Amino acid sequence: MGQENIFKYFHPVIEVENIEKNPRSIELGGRKIVVFKSGKGVAALDDNCPHRHTPLSLGTVEGGRIHCPYHGWNFGADGKGSVPLQPKLNCAVNAYTAVEKLGYVWIAEAGTSLDKLPAFISGIENLTDGWEDCIALKPIDLLFNAALPQTIDNFGEIEHVPFVHQVLGWSVEDVPKMHVGVEVGEDFTVSKGWGPQRLPPSRLLQLIDKYIFRCGDTSLLEWDFRFNPCHSTFMPGWGEPNCSVAERRAFSVRATSIFIPENDNTTRLLNFPFIKIHERRLKFLKPLVAYIARKNLYEELVLDKKACEMVSDVPNDLSTMRLGIRDKQLVANRKMLQKIYYGEQNPKTQSKKLIDTITVADDVEVGDAFTV
Ligand code: FES
Ligand SMILES: [Fe+2]
Repeated sequence: MGQENIFKYFHPVIEVENIEKNPRSIELGGRKIVVFKSGKGVAALDDNCPHRHTPLSLGTVEGGRIHCPYHGWNFGADGKGSVPLQPKLNCAVNAYTAVEKLGYVWIAEAGTSLDKLPAFISGIENLTDGWEDCIALKPIDLLFNAALPQTIDNFGEIEHVPFVHQVLGWSVEDVPKMHVGVEVGEDFTVSKGWGPQRLPPSRLLQLIDKYIFRCGDTSLLEWDFRFNPCHSTFMPGWGEPNCSVAERRAFSVRATSIFIPENDNTTRLLNFPFIKIHERRLKFLKPLVAYIARKNLYEELVLDKKACEMVSDVPNDLSTMRLGIRDKQLVANRKMLQKIYYGEQNPKTQSKKLIDTITVADDVEVGDAFTV
């Protein structure tokens, strides 16, 4: 299990436009994989010629088959090989199911049904629940020099918001006014928080704030986690606590981050952001609002990356950490990471003991803590 299990889930590994001309090598779960256009669509194979291990990504694609540059062995999307000077020789390379969605190539192990694509994709393709008419922004692709668990941990707690972020959420002084609730389901976790919007750091944003956000208004944050593959949809906005998306003010952001473990040391975060403009006067400023929203989201994600990289070399076993009540979602996420994503039925004893002793309530009392 472990790294093998992650191939049961589709991961987006490269933009389709990057393989239009040449094959490209990507890394997922420690495996090198070549992705190319096969003629019928997109294809993915282990990036390793079975003959003498030349990376197939160094070769060329002709007639929908990828050709090894060393001795010309060539392979189709199904992995079956053909050897020019030994036509009767059987050879094959491990093939993956590959499909194009949202402008990216998504891959999973061979034979995986397209039903296994994460539901948020169809949510993006057929936006509903108040998200109709939203605007798609250019995806954000960041490489974190940190392992998957540390990266997931960062996005599963809100305690870092006033210290790490600059625009998002609340100031340190307003932390006592924050409200945060966590819900844990069978295969998901979701947090909702609200508190007074902090003063933006730049003059331009302060000016915009004066007319649009009104500093001190209620900043709403909501984010969920799922593990097929690991992804989190983050939906910040402004309005009354518990209001629907349609009742929010100014504009809202909906941004789904997918966490893609390249290997034990690096994790790619691929974020698909959207904005929904609620106020009519802002609709005339659509390009400006879109630009500001994406720029700030990008900068905040870079700050998250720096935070994750601060703890990339430290022990990542939860039993070594003095966790507090604000780490509830983080702990629940780790449990699902192990069980759903890595397919471990019996997580490590220490972590299992820790996880099983934590009960996650809907109503979180600030200041409580649990002992590891
Ligand atoms: S190493 Fe690929 S054909 Fe020989
Ligand atoms: Fe963050």
